[in-house]
Amino acid sequence: MVGTQWGDEGKGRVVDIVAKECAYVVRYQGGHNAGHTLVVDGEVFALQLIPSGILYDHVVPIIGNGVVIDPRVLLNEIDTLAAKDVDCQRLMLSPQAHLVLPYHQILDELAESRRGDNKIGTTKRGIGPAYADKASRIGIRVEDLLDPEHLRARLHSALAEKNVILRDVYGHEGLDPDQLADELIDEIAPRVAPYIGDTVGHLHEALHAGERVLFEGAQATFLDLDHGTYPFVTSSNPIAGYALVGSGIGPGAIDQVIGIAKAYLTRVGAGPFVTELHDEIGDHLVDVGHEYGTNTGRRRRTGWFDAVMARQAVRLNACTEIALTKLDVLDQLETIKVCVAYEVDGRRYEYLPHLRRLHDKATPVYAEFPGWCTDLSGATERHDLPREAIDYISFLERQMGVPIRFVCVGPGREQYLRFAA
Ligand code: IMP
Repeated sequence: MVGTQWGDEGKGRVVDIVAKECAYVVRYQGGHNAGHTLVVDGEVFALQLIPSGILYDHVVPIIGNGVVIDPRVLLNEIDTLAAKDVDCQRLMLSPQAHLVLPYHQILDELAESRRGDNKIGTTKRGIGPAYADKASRIGIRVEDLLDPEHLRARLHSALAEKNVILRDVYGHEGLDPDQLADELIDEIAPRVAPYIGDTVGHLHEALHAGERVLFEGAQATFLDLDHGTYPFVTSSNPIAGYALVGSGIGPGAIDQVIGIAKAYLTRVGAGPFVTELHDEIGDHLVDVGHEYGTNTGRRRRTGWFDAVMARQAVRLNACTEIALTKLDVLDQLETIKVCVAYEVDGRRYEYLPHLRRLHDKATPVYAEFPGWCTDLSGATERHDLPREAIDYISFLERQMGVPIRFVCVGPGREQYLRFAA
């Protein structure tokens, strides 16, 4: 399951629906830059690291090797869930996942403020610096928590380098490796250790036994480090192909890819946004859709549905179907637009232009629809939907070339429609 836009498509909602039918739910990339909000029996759950499937007793939630884990955030989340009587004992962490440590967060913040007008608008959670360390081979992995002396030595060598950068580039006093090692060894490691397991082995056995495994992408296609709107992207690969790398399974294991698309478009942070609205309709979408970051509280930028991006996302992820979320947010609009193509220098593009500088210059070509001006929040079957809403859904299906199988019409767990194959 993968976001087809810039994140915040409501993936957690759809994961929650599909997880019910699965034995395992696996996170394969990203870290606590993600934020999933779930509403169960009116109670709000905000999860950042633990897969949403945790709320089902029969689901084994797995955090795969491709994820970066801030252990303090993880433990906090486990404690919060425990306080709501959600048992986290089934949770399993890959020993190969990398840790997000305090110096990553400090460096993320300092690098962002140094960028001035060229800010990426990161979540300042240390995600980028943690992935950079992984690639530079100076990262600390979950399994290092099991070997105190090795952990201390790894921290000394990582901080020997980081402290030079912190002091000489940023004028920061730097961190004491022994103090951090003591905290990790004494407070964090004993609590994290019971969750570390053979995630690759378990997944292979589950797949071999014919169990259903759901891979839950965080962030989204256009925040992908390679295929997104670089450099305004995250530091991992949310696209479906990375589910294999980030969890240790082979290509043959995936037989269904659900792309999540919001019925309009939002983005947090900087970067191109061809269909962005700077008017009262944009404000309306923010207000009605509660478009503020789950994680950072930032107001999201809003715009019309962009079928060019959606088509590209269907290609990049080999989506077999789409889940359309937050359709009810459009309920009061008299006219609804969809961007069907881009125009750049007199040329029409049906997919994303292959060069970023062309994307930056693109203007949207819109198709216009009459709104349904009806409250959809109680709809549970296709025939509950007004003609205009069905036309909108059918148009999006034709634009994307894949069927829409889920339509979400409200934040509650039961507020969705499911269309049979
Ligand atoms: P980072 O992942 O914190 O490095 O931030 C890089 C970019 O990805 C910024 O534009 C963030 O706003 C965006 N981003 C990261 N995680 C999410 C998410 O879960 N939803 C939406 N945007 C995100």
